[in-house]
Amino acid sequence: MLFNPRPKTSRADLFGRDRELNLLHENVDSPIIIIAGIRRIGKTSLLNVFLNEVGIPSVVLDLRGLKSNYGFRDFYSILAKGLSNSLNKLIDVLRGISSIRIVGVEVELKWRGRDAISVPTLFDYLNRRRVIVAFDEAQRLRGPRSLEILDAIAHAYDYDKNITFIFMGSEVGLLYSFLGLDNPKSPLYGRYTFRLTLDRFPRDLAMEFLKRGFKEAGVNVPMDIIEDAVDVFDGIPGWLTLFGNEYVRGNKDIGRIKEEAIRIALEELRSIVSERGRRYVIALRGVAEGANTWGRLKAYIEEREGGVISSSVLHNIVKSLEDLSIVKDYKFLDPIYEEAAKLL
Ligand SMILES: Nc1ncnc2c1ncn2[C@@H]1O[C@H](COP(=O)(O)OP(=O)(O)OP(=O)(O)O)[C@@H](O)[C@H]1O
Ligand SMILES: [Mg+2]
Repeated sequence: MLFNPRPKTSRADLFGRDRELNLLHENVDSPIIIIAGIRRIGKTSLLNVFLNEVGIPSVVLDLRGLKSNYGFRDFYSILAKGLSNSLNKLIDVLRGISSIRIVGVEVELKWRGRDAISVPTLFDYLNRRRVIVAFDEAQRLRGPRSLEILDAIAHAYDYDKNITFIFMGSEVGLLYSFLGLDNPKSPLYGRYTFRLTLDRFPRDLAMEFLKRGFKEAGVNVPMDIIEDAVDVFDGIPGWLTLFGNEYVRGNKDIGRIKEEAIRIALEELRSIVSERGRRYVIALRGVAEGANTWGRLKAYIEEREGGVISSSVLHNIVKSLEDLSIVKDYKFLDPIYEEAAKLL
């Protein structure tokens, strides 16, 4: 079902991404694949469908919950979960690793002490067969441990030819700065990667998405509602799915659905700015209220704060908002985030 709010797992439910899926199939032998795109654009759905089709065992590491100063305990617990989820497909390889214990349907592994296994060693073992290792929200790996993890990946790039790594992220600038492909100090500097950027649907395709979803659900919807929905939610599949799902379940008030979406976006924005401080709140509100140049945003913040803000501080704020894929060229990438920012 197109309006099922969970990430999709089959091509039949994945609308309008045949080109992207085919590109992944063509490039599956690249050592590193990067899938970038703003929140709700369908990265996880694309990955799920691809992995289901490609017939190569995979380990998916869901890094969304990783805290910013994570340690090996946090990383290994995500690693163990990823391996456990793939246990049935990788059982022969995992059984052959003496430092890994399989307890029922779960994998246990240690990062320290007797029987510890390092990340590069784990990759060397996985390399005994063709395997894909995917990192979802990989930019969360930034932090004190990032160098060790990048070193392990660089090692695998050089020696473990059977492993394809997939890195995905919704904070696109942070994802690329974590990988450091252009940074001579990064272990991955200059490595070959295949890069795929997921874009929103253009207007006609967004309307087609809604029409097809409503048809599938057997609900008749007037054309002007579909037009309105695309005005509000743009071509962002996650919002269109939320809208379609709500409407089909009987909530036919587009204004209320929009409010619900804004509430979700507001929570997300709050958690992002809470780590970064008050000036980010003001800057986001400024951009949302139309401060669409350097000078206007500077003036906006200075008026609110009653003081001068230095160019370097303002530069950092603008760059961070771009790296987080919230703002580009003083404009919000997601119209719902723009509305939410006014309520910050
Ligand atoms: N091409 C698509 N066809 C149908 N539904 C889609 C498509 N892309 C995304 N969706 C739906 O949109 C929502 C968001 O998708 P998904 O979780 O895959 O995106 P994401 O980019 O991984 O988001 P996030 O950045 O929040 O992790 C889900 O409800 C999913 O079912
Ligand atoms: Mg995702």
